[in-house]
Amino acid sequence: MAESLVTIANLTREKIDYLLEMAQEFEKHPNRKLLDGRVVATLFFEPSTRTRLSFETAASRLGARVIGFTDPKVTSSTKGETLKDTIMMVGNYADIIVMRHYLEGAARYAAEVSPVPVVNAGDGANQHPTQTMLDLYSIKKTQGTLENLNIYMVGDLKYGRTVHSLLQAMRHYNPTFHFIAPRELAMPEEYKLYCDARGIKYVEHEDFNEDVISGADILYMTRVQRERFTDLMEYERVKDVYILRENMLAKAKENMRILHPLPRVNEIAYDVDASPHAYYFEQARNGLYAREAILCNALGITLDEVRADQTIIL
Ligand code: CP
Repeated sequence: MAESLVTIANLTREKIDYLLEMAQEFEKHPNRKLLDGRVVATLFFEPSTRTRLSFETAASRLGARVIGFTDPKVTSSTKGETLKDTIMMVGNYADIIVMRHYLEGAARYAAEVSPVPVVNAGDGANQHPTQTMLDLYSIKKTQGTLENLNIYMVGDLKYGRTVHSLLQAMRHYNPTFHFIAPRELAMPEEYKLYCDARGIKYVEHEDFNEDVISGADILYMTRVQRERFTDLMEYERVKDVYILRENMLAKAKENMRILHPLPRVNEIAYDVDASPHAYYFEQARNGLYAREAILCNALGITLDEVRADQTIIL
């Protein structure tokens, strides 16, 4: 059955595990013809490198064609066309819509009015569920499990949609969170209440040093997002509060991995890239497999069908 992906909060543990298994199949064989003849629309009302290109790569490697835009200024939305009408039009042309939008709730609205499945590629500071699927895939691949992990989230926890989605997805796996942020960018109350209501353990810190890092299984760094600030003086005050440097990893657990949804600005120094703990570029590559699974699932292709697939191109 075709289905939209708007929020990670709606996915059961079984569904998440199922999508991760499907992603694993695509990592073994990314090139197939499972979406031959389909059209994938990528509508990006906000800038993107990884999300758009990995979705378009996923569609291409599965044999689909891609239409879309990377800049809403070249579309009729500049003439006043509403999001509803845009979605209705694109739904006439494509079999699925992948959309990033600057407004929180835009993906839900699009899914409600769309004649075809909608995949949320990020809506404002709200959700980034496909990033979360690749984050979960990366965590499981590096730690061997999603259960009972110490996940340290660092940086912009207020506006960071990736940490909001990841927090909600991890509810199934008994995590302990450490939230490390300047007061201005602390994890919002609603997400702390979300943890409280589900018995999820969390600790808040403002310190960020090698002793704090020593407890982490996953160190999830985030960028301070200039584009979300209305007061740029505030952005200047907080943008470089936390910078991870290689010499801060001396006490890290051997299997600790550093994730970052990217792009990075200053928050991870370049000397970290050569560390065995650095995993952010591999994490981005995992996005291809996770998004192949998301596209197939949204279009009604099952894990059994992927496993039985005879269209693999070696
Ligand atoms: N992680 C992520 O969403 O990156 P892009 O903004 O480049 O898509």
